[in-house]
Amino acid sequence: MAKDTFQVYSLIDKKKRGEKLAEKEIKWFIQSYTDHQIPDYQMSAMLMAMFLKGMDVSETAFLTDAMLESGKRLKFPGKNVIDKHSTGGIGDKASFILAPIASAAGVKVPMIAGRGLGHTGGTVDKVEAIKGFKTALDLEEFSNKLNAEGLVLIGQTPDIAPADRLIYALRDVTATIDSIPLITASIMSKKLAEGANGIVFDIKTGTGAFMRTQKDAKNLAKSLIATSKRFKKKAVALITDMNQPLGNEVGHSNEIIESIETLKGKGPKDLTDLSIILAAHMIHLAGVEKTFKKAHDKALLMVSSGKALEDFRKLLRSQGGDERVIDDYSLLPMAKEKTQILSPKSGYIKMFDNTQIGLLLIELGGGRKAKSDIIDHGVGFSFHKKIGDQVKKGEPIFTITHHANQKDIVESIKKKFIQDVLIISSAKVKKSKLILEKIS
Ligand code: URA
Repeated sequence: MAKDTFQVYSLIDKKKRGEKLAEKEIKWFIQSYTDHQIPDYQMSAMLMAMFLKGMDVSETAFLTDAMLESGKRLKFPGKNVIDKHSTGGIGDKASFILAPIASAAGVKVPMIAGRGLGHTGGTVDKVEAIKGFKTALDLEEFSNKLNAEGLVLIGQTPDIAPADRLIYALRDVTATIDSIPLITASIMSKKLAEGANGIVFDIKTGTGAFMRTQKDAKNLAKSLIATSKRFKKKAVALITDMNQPLGNEVGHSNEIIESIETLKGKGPKDLTDLSIILAAHMIHLAGVEKTFKKAHDKALLMVSSGKALEDFRKLLRSQGGDERVIDDYSLLPMAKEKTQILSPKSGYIKMFDNTQIGLLLIELGGGRKAKSDIIDHGVGFSFHKKIGDQVKKGEPIFTITHHANQKDIVESIKKKFIQDVLIISSAKVKKSKLILEKIS
């Protein structure tokens, strides 16, 4: 427990009135909560006050410091230890592609990834579709593997920013997720603790993102970059589109297959382009190449030469995953039935409600409704159309992969998709831009 003591009630009241909290007050509050000296209901009230009244740059910094100091902090020598962080979305499997590309190019990539959150899927859940892949390594194993292999991918550990683990669980159930200061402190406390010397941020915006508008995404990007700089970390943020799934596949095994196909140079254009550009920023930040152009060429070469795929194979081998899946997708769990969803009319795809797509996957069993739910890695959606594409009445828009006993759920997904997810316009629709802005 911190030496100073304050009154919990008074600090909540102060923030509720929109006053600024001092460094000592924030640090005391966070440490006391992490030490279980403050109950969840008071922390929830404080989070709501922070959410509603906001926090300025220095309060955000103190909150980040307090959460970072709640756990262990790794340090890796050398400038070439670079991570990327995505704020999450639908079909976002870019980590599986960009991490081996960057590592094949000579970047060390320490990834501590998350599980599914709300409507969004999680990298850790997805990689667990590969039999045997161990995501629960302790920090010593994590460091050893990074040093030996140059690439490691694990889930959150209790030692890294434990304050965030506790607070995050509360935010998830108290509608206090989408706050820029709270997201900044949450992301940065974990990223700073894991020892990377530079970070590439992929800030998603659109119907499937926590930041719905580009303006909010930009503010979050600026906040993350400012915090990175305060800790002398190199950082770049891209604001990217999340108004439709990234790539064509949604669901765990589906996404692993699409990632491997992309590493083989046969992926969809949006997923390929974004993964290459994010990997190129990692290669550039690491100082492996002096210009972004050269870093981009290198990222392309890592795919065309097969080196990135080899690094993905190395990653699977190093963490106990069945590397044979790379050449034999039938080794992944996969439901047997396929049902196509046909377009109800002719026109142009105008919009997908991407959050609803995530929620429909959860309905099908490909996500959790309760913390204890077990994910079905074998169900998913394959999209055949993108925003701006022309579609004819009766043409398949997407295919559901499901189990034989899920006919009722499939019927309900069909209905909801046509009613709530898809908008088809009779007028031509512009294709959406994938990368909207770069902030550094
Ligand atoms: N991801 C995080 O790690 N924290 C947030 O608050 C939101 C997304």
